[in-house]
Amino acid sequence: MGKRIGIWNIFLAVSIISLFLIVYKTHSIVRDGRSSLLYALELEGTNTTSHDDQQILLVSGLFPLSKSKHSTEDYRSWLTLFLGSLTTDVYFFTPPELAELVAEVRGNLPITINTTFSNPFDIPPLVNLKEQYEQMHANDRERSRHSPELYAIWNGKPYFLDEALRNSEKQYSYAFWSDAGSFRKEHVYRSWPDSARVEEVWEEGSRMSVDTDFSEGSFFGGSPQTVQWWKELFYLYHDYYLTQGIFVGKDQTLINALFLLFPFRVITVWVSDPDAPVHQGLVSSIEGPLGSCGDDWYYYQFWLSDVQTRNRMRKLWNSKAWLQWWKERTTCRLTRILTIEEVLNRRFGANWTPPTATLPSAPLQFRLPNIH
Ligand SMILES: *[C@@H]1O[C@H](CO)[C@@H](O)[C@H](O)[C@H]1NC(C)=O
Ligand SMILES: *[C@@H]1O[C@H](CO)[C@@H](O)[C@H](O)[C@H]1NC(C)=O
Repeated sequence: MGKRIGIWNIFLAVSIISLFLIVYKTHSIVRDGRSSLLYALELEGTNTTSHDDQQILLVSGLFPLSKSKHSTEDYRSWLTLFLGSLTTDVYFFTPPELAELVAEVRGNLPITINTTFSNPFDIPPLVNLKEQYEQMHANDRERSRHSPELYAIWNGKPYFLDEALRNSEKQYSYAFWSDAGSFRKEHVYRSWPDSARVEEVWEEGSRMSVDTDFSEGSFFGGSPQTVQWWKELFYLYHDYYLTQGIFVGKDQTLINALFLLFPFRVITVWVSDPDAPVHQGLVSSIEGPLGSCGDDWYYYQFWLSDVQTRNRMRKLWNSKAWLQWWKERTTCRLTRILTIEEVLNRRFGANWTPPTATLPSAPLQFRLPNIH
């Protein structure tokens, strides 16, 4: 008798727990209905199977700082999730001593390794600037975390991106700079960015702006024309500000200045946009502003993938959530594209207009992104 009651008690306890879980989960799903819906819409959305007619080049580089204490094994592990995983054509700048490691991590996947420059002070736009960068470093309020070499690495990116396109025999539709260390966590990205998705984003962007350049310090790019325009503009203002004693050590401050001057030429994705339609109705704040999307800084990786990859990444992020099963989760949402102009108009008011650019920059040979 006593034994039977014991079993009955256990059965009852299990039932109550299950019921609680079912009620709780249903509650979450109801409250999270919006994201389930978005997810479904995405599944049924446009069939964005990649076509190879839009060729994409990824450009990157690795220049260890002279004081760096990182070992070859450190570099190997950082590069593996990038070069060892993405199948997109890669053009890579690195000093000769790292070429072998880069080639080994890349394996049979397509890559051009350029070892012409041992450090970014060797590239034409920065050659002979070492002394000036050292002076600039003395005035940097974040001096302890930065170095003249680091400034050069940051400021070399527009040159490297454009130069890779010039050196390539293949005609690419788009080229993007991607920091070599920007794939740090488990992912399923392979043919990335997805060419059909890039095309879709650029078509939408061209309806909103004149020509499009996509930007964040660690990832930016566009059509070969915009890449060239960006490079020329970047060094034009870099050199001018340098002569005026204005700090240009961090590329982001220079980029911000260019955004203010040419906001209608740049499109972006803003993860924590409080007004984004897909941000509304999010159930919890324990995750990012668009749900469980991994690190905010790398949201563009998800955003520039095809729908199947996005869904696989959603599954991957959701599968990491089981440890804290009582917390409500929102499946990662796909947000809209914005122009920098829109972002700035929201910040400074609708009447804000960009300041007039004073330097005579080469006019961009406007050619809208290929619209079929
Ligand atoms: C999507 O495209 C693939 C390849 O063309 C095709 O096999 C598949 O049936 C398509 N799916 C839908 C839902 O149209
Ligand atoms: C590497 O880049 C430099 C600068 O663009 C170029 O002059 C050189 O030909 C390139 N090397 C190779 C092997 O492509």
